[in-house]
Amino acid sequence: MPATSVIGAQWGDEGKGKIIDLATDRADVVVRFQGGANAGHTVIVEGNKFVFHLLPSGVLREDKLNVLANGVVIDPVVLLDEVGQFENRGISLDGRLRVSGAAHCVMPYHRVLDGLREGQKAGVVIGTTGRGIGPAYADKANRCGIRMWDLIDEDRLRARLAANVHEKNRLFTRMFESDPLDFDEMFEVARAQGRKLKPLVSDTGALLREALAADKHVFFEGAQGVMLDLDHGTYPFVTSSNSDSLGIAAGTGVPPRAIGHQIGVAKAYCTRVGAGPFPSELHDDRGERLREGGGEFGATTGRPRRCGWFDVPAARYAAELCGFDGLALTKLDVLSGMEEIGLVVAYEIDGETVESYPVDTPLIERAKPIVKMFPGWSEDVRAVRSFQELPATCRAFVEEISARVGVRWEIVSVGPGRESTIIREAP
Ligand code: IMP
Repeated sequence: MPATSVIGAQWGDEGKGKIIDLATDRADVVVRFQGGANAGHTVIVEGNKFVFHLLPSGVLREDKLNVLANGVVIDPVVLLDEVGQFENRGISLDGRLRVSGAAHCVMPYHRVLDGLREGQKAGVVIGTTGRGIGPAYADKANRCGIRMWDLIDEDRLRARLAANVHEKNRLFTRMFESDPLDFDEMFEVARAQGRKLKPLVSDTGALLREALAADKHVFFEGAQGVMLDLDHGTYPFVTSSNSDSLGIAAGTGVPPRAIGHQIGVAKAYCTRVGAGPFPSELHDDRGERLREGGGEFGATTGRPRRCGWFDVPAARYAAELCGFDGLALTKLDVLSGMEEIGLVVAYEIDGETVESYPVDTPLIERAKPIVKMFPGWSEDVRAVRSFQELPATCRAFVEEISARVGVRWEIVSVGPGRESTIIREAP
């Protein structure tokens, strides 16, 4: 059975949680392949709100196997806390969660370093989530990281942690003039975490290849979005992983051909958290209206999100880069009641009209949006369950986005609940 992937087509926070929750209905295995506790998926099931930072969304469905694959960076504190929270609500993860031994751990010094680097007066401030994600991936690339295999093996943990704490403490005290961290305390905490997590740790690459060979339906759950991808996003204002479908094979240990049917998720408008270029940003009361109407405050940090119109060149770039098969357009209900709705169809850069997305960040910083305005609709669309019942202006808006992005719309979401969804039949 071909796999399915759900990927954010914008700057994250596209409403992937809900789409993933819907799509995982048919999955046997749900896999996170990149990022860490910087993500924040919100899912509402029968009026109950669940917010995940690290766990795959399949944990809400009892019969799914959930995998944190090798490409994820795992903060053991967060992982143990989330497992505990689910168990407190009566949802057992026994036998339903596997963690890759090759996944790297986010250690206390990564969080400290994230904060210190962001607090520097000189250099670029990214506006990170402060979860230690960048420093953990940097150690992975530097080959000094602590993997889950190390965390669950006391001798390996002691040796690798000692080397890291020694190096980081010199950095903290000498370069940042900050306090050193205590090795003994950190080791004791990490050793206890390793003991608790040991039963979950395995070679998840082999597990996933076997699942695919056995015709199981594997589902790859993206975090963040294409425009935050380390290689293909608005560098340096990006996260530190390949947060699009290009990261799936490397982040899981499955062959690239296994990626399967890809759904790109985009909001009917755009948001961005943190610093970096955002050509369609609205600095007026319309931006405020989107933020309030859409509840656009970070699930992880609570920060207000920057809001703007749907950006066609950026979404088309995302679609072409990943090869999306279908588009899920979310939060259409948020636009109800707006007199006019904008669609950024091109940019003006240095006096020229540019229709494709320029990948060099200074060019995007100079891009002025060319906006096509659409008449809005006044109806509340949250109870609508078929495309034909949507107001004509709303349908036209969806069809135009789909045509301009070059991807057939498959799902339209008109409210936060599972039921507030219009799903298009396969052609
Ligand atoms: P980091 O991933 O914490 O290093 O943050 C890098 C950039 O990615 C910052 O601009 C964050 O706001 C952004 N970012 C990270 N995770 C998310 C997410 O889940 N949604 C939206 N933005 C995110």
